[in-house]
Amino acid sequence: MQIYKVGGAVRDRLLGRPVTDIDWVVVGASAEEMVAKGFRPVGADFPVFLHPKSGEEYALARTERKSGRGYGGFTFHASPEVTLEEDLIRRDLTINAMAEDAQGVLTDPYNGQKDLEDRLLRHVSPAFAEDPLRVLRVARFAARYASLGFSVAPDTLELMRQLSQSGELQALTAERSWKEISRALMEDQPQIFVQVLRDCGALAVLMPEVDALFGVPQPPAHHPEIDTGLHTLSVLQQAALHRQPLNVRWACLLHDLGKGLTPKEEWPRHIGHEYTGMELIKEVNERFKTPRECQELALLVGQYHTHGHKALELKASTLLELLQSFDVFRRPQRFEEFIAACEMDARGRLGLESRPYPQADYLRGAATTARAVAVQPLLEKGFKGPELGEALRLERLRALKAYKEQHAP
Ligand code: CTP
Repeated sequence: MQIYKVGGAVRDRLLGRPVTDIDWVVVGASAEEMVAKGFRPVGADFPVFLHPKSGEEYALARTERKSGRGYGGFTFHASPEVTLEEDLIRRDLTINAMAEDAQGVLTDPYNGQKDLEDRLLRHVSPAFAEDPLRVLRVARFAARYASLGFSVAPDTLELMRQLSQSGELQALTAERSWKEISRALMEDQPQIFVQVLRDCGALAVLMPEVDALFGVPQPPAHHPEIDTGLHTLSVLQQAALHRQPLNVRWACLLHDLGKGLTPKEEWPRHIGHEYTGMELIKEVNERFKTPRECQELALLVGQYHTHGHKALELKASTLLELLQSFDVFRRPQRFEEFIAACEMDARGRLGLESRPYPQADYLRGAATTARAVAVQPLLEKGFKGPELGEALRLERLRALKAYKEQHAP
């Protein structure tokens, strides 16, 4: 049996990027031989094994034939006769279809090195279409390597377009799609991920609510970039520049979905888009079964981002309601993430990227002020039950009025 390093490990070493996990391909071995050597099989009929010591993945060289839709629809053909070249040709991109033996000798039958030099994300063969998830993978790689000058080869984009139109993307499970989406959002240039999906028509299938924002105008005085789709991309870009966590980036992507529903007659204004967007945000969250902290923050940011921008003009009572909606007394972190998303929204406007955002500190100060109101004195005065709650609310309101007086008279 011969063992080769494959995929991302070879690609990233050649690019001079850190290699985190290593995948191996095994040629000339059977499943029984692997088990006899102490490898542990992953799943019942998937030809992948874990190394007894390192835990790294070793896959038997295989050819793949498609028998149905979705992940469960694959049948694998793995046997000791499958050659390295036959295995590599069914992989997604040429830059991912190189192998390296123990001596460091490279096998590169599909010119992955040339495409690395030319900065091209190119599919290896028509077998690309065997797994529609690859549409998302290519967009994710485009986001990751954009700063190195990579782009998607025109033929590959065309193939991605055909796959998007074929209806195959709908068959992807929520879990597989979300894994790609969440990883892509955490790349340095997540806006490129969305842009590439849009370019090949996949965005219209996966997130038509986001796709619908392109071509929708906003008032030029507040939004010099005008287009809501472009604004969304810029907000995402700012979120990455400011190293925001996944839930903030997800909230940034979805915050303006309501603008896609505004009747044309009302353009470029979008009164009430915060509320019309809620249902759409909920649907997208459910479609990809996103983690709870992503769901929650996206909904809250969708509903309240305009409050964030108008923070200094809000009445003390509205400010208190906002803080209560975020349960800021028990969950201070979530309010911080809301503030971050609002700030990214403000910075994601053409030419206004470095404009100060005093709302952030003002909101933080308001939260600190409200949280500093002590319960003990009210208990000592004999308040209990609902009266205690009301007394606390009034104390907080008083404190916020004083805060507003001082900081935003
Ligand atoms: N692969 C593929 N099609 C997929 C998934 C994986 O062809 N849908 C192949 C590619 O050759 C890829 C390798 O399997 O390089 C390993 O896949 P994975 O570990 O998911 O990705 P990496 O390429 O290692 O990239 P990353 O750095 O994102 O982990």
